Amino acid sequence: MKVLLVGGGGREHALGWKIAQSPELSKLYLAPGSAGLNHLGEKLSFGDGELQAIADFAAENAIDLVVVGPEAPLAAGLGDLLAAKGVPCFGPSRAAAQLESSKSFMKDVASAAGAPTAAYGRFTDIEPAKAFLREQTAPYVIKADGLAAGKGVVIAESLKDADAAVEEMLSGRFGEASEAIVIEEFMRGEEASFFAITDGENILPLIDAQDHKRAYDGDKGPNTGGMGAYSPAPVFTDKVRERTMKELIEPVIAEMKSRGTPYVGVLYAGLMIEDEKPRLVEFNARFGDPECQILMRRLKSDLLPALYKAATGGLKGVSLDWSDDAAALVVMAADGYPGAYKKGSEIKGVEAANALPGVVVFHAGTKEENGGLLSNGGRVLNVTATGEDIREAVERAYAGVDAIDWPGGFYRKDIGWRALERDDAERAR
Ligand code: AMP
Ligand code: GLY
Repeated sequence: MKVLLVGGGGREHALGWKIAQSPELSKLYLAPGSAGLNHLGEKLSFGDGELQAIADFAAENAIDLVVVGPEAPLAAGLGDLLAAKGVPCFGPSRAAAQLESSKSFMKDVASAAGAPTAAYGRFTDIEPAKAFLREQTAPYVIKADGLAAGKGVVIAESLKDADAAVEEMLSGRFGEASEAIVIEEFMRGEEASFFAITDGENILPLIDAQDHKRAYDGDKGPNTGGMGAYSPAPVFTDKVRERTMKELIEPVIAEMKSRGTPYVGVLYAGLMIEDEKPRLVEFNARFGDPECQILMRRLKSDLLPALYKAATGGLKGVSLDWSDDAAALVVMAADGYPGAYKKGSEIKGVEAANALPGVVVFHAGTKEENGGLLSNGGRVLNVTATGEDIREAVERAYAGVDAIDWPGGFYRKDIGWRALERDDAERAR
């Protein structure tokens, strides 16, 4: 099978690393690929923003499957361009990708499907939005309707801050993405994410994970794309898994099909869990980054046939084997991330880290130059490790971090704290 992988971060390194292990792969093409994939596939001259170039290349070179990592090309219609040329694509159409790209669309679908989520209102004008806020209680949740790179959510403790967020967003803070806003009920509980692959009708449940969205230790500082992750998530019990499938994923996939816009690809459900009851926070139309990386570390089966069957409507009866081992990931980010940061500082020790037990380092934002490795992004390295339990996986991941010499970066030192605290409490009993 000839596969074209779209995207260039740590998630795509992990997907490419896994796909490259498949006996069914004949050639891997990368648009543009992570620097960590340079020796596993052929880097194309265009990147993940050049949709027409991707579709033309795929059609002209008889690509069997295009796998799309990030949301932006999906929201812009890459799936539709490929479908028009008859190229199988793992990733939803533009209409189906609205489950991520439009918060109000997601809310409509969830409500039609009866999926549990926060009550909400949608607004395009400041005054009615402020009036609605006055009917709610603190904390207030205000979201840009469109894609705002994970930055379009404000949780305000006071009405004053909530009003300010409403005014700022509806005056164009995120351009088109905040022409409309959604105001939601605040949900309590613990967050976790769950992933499922679907061909539009048949659903293959994957596994769960937890990530750390804030930049600094103790879940402080600005929101980021994710500073670390681990799997399994102790809060995600068998009962939660069953409810998530029955109450959320299955009805939503059925609803998308009945609307004539079947959802194909991986559906990422961000959940708030309280008393073993999952409620939907968000959907993403793709694998999480960095959650994908630890999913790939726990996946024992060949991934490629499952992706192909999802893209071509044959997922029925497919199953995947997962390792009982836990996996953890520590993001090493450039100083200043998620704000302004410098590129081009030298990184050493990745090979030494990769030689440690259980450790695999994925490249999220690096480049090779004159035989050396330089930082080339905000999130730069993803140090992953597997272990018998989360404690061991986390310890091994930090041993990997210690082996890396990169003065230009920082990382959180408390990845996995929720799971470890829970484990401490259980041991003390
Ligand atoms: P989102 O971009 O929708 O995933 O929101 C970003 C983060 O804000 C989530 O991961 C949650 O931590 C938090 N959040 C969003 N919506 C809610 C809500 N309705 N109640 C509580 N927390 C929320
Ligand atoms: N790690 C969160 C996300 O990929 O959206």
